[in-house]
Amino acid sequence: MPRILMCPPVYYGIEYEINPWMNRAQSSNRALAIEQWTALRQLLEDAGAEIELLSPEPGLPDLVFTANAGLVYQRQVVLSRFKHPERQGETPLDRAWFESAGFVCSDPPQDLAFEGAGDALFCGETLFAGYRRRSDARGVQQIAEQLGVQVLPLELVNPSFYHLDTCFCPLAPGEAIYYPAAFDDYGRRVIEATVPTLIKVDAHEAAAFACNAVVVGRRVITNTGCPKLQEELARHGYDPVATPLGEFLKAGGSAKCLTLRLDGEEAAGWRVSA
Ligand code: ARG
Repeated sequence: MPRILMCPPVYYGIEYEINPWMNRAQSSNRALAIEQWTALRQLLEDAGAEIELLSPEPGLPDLVFTANAGLVYQRQVVLSRFKHPERQGETPLDRAWFESAGFVCSDPPQDLAFEGAGDALFCGETLFAGYRRRSDARGVQQIAEQLGVQVLPLELVNPSFYHLDTCFCPLAPGEAIYYPAAFDDYGRRVIEATVPTLIKVDAHEAAAFACNAVVVGRRVITNTGCPKLQEELARHGYDPVATPLGEFLKAGGSAKCLTLRLDGEEAAGWRVSA
């Protein structure tokens, strides 16, 4: 059964600004955030996922974005080392949760920032890793070496698409969604040469976080406002579902960021072949 880690947005809010989407003057409505999060959780359960919960903590408003807790690989987790001090208090809570769930935890190489599944996503056997904004290129190289997997580092050139999961979403081995303008020429060529089936998202839908999709089986859950992506997904045999997540866009997050797949993403070769 697909297992997904989520954290209820009880203490969620816009309390600092660490990406271009965040503006303290545009605070979030907590009741609406809880409603949107609960609807997402329900959709994931309807898709057949079992939801595990990380306890929310006052003073850590971004703890809801469990994608950033770490990178899961089989029974191992490489925990995050957040770039911004505002989020560094999350790691001890993430570590405690993973240890109690029986995962073997490790830390990113000394002094290097790494933000977990926000920046590192398996598509088939390959780990695609975003760097520059939140994760260091050298760190993702060393993490891949430690796990014994092949990595393709991708530079994130647009500050609004600061985590890889805001502009790239593996759907299955050899299939992904991406927003080309978030990458440089080299990154685009790497993606185009290594992922045979690609669905491109336009600037308008990318800004609605179209690439920040959660994939459970053939179901693909995103924020609302991505009708072209939904059409393309349906054409490729997927079952797209949209749910409003506007309260989380205010923090620079959406569906995918609010989840962490614990048994391996749908597209991860190591899960599929397990
Ligand atoms: N406010 C959070 C941050 O800037 C949002 C994180 C979104 N998570 C993600 N995986 N893209 O760190």
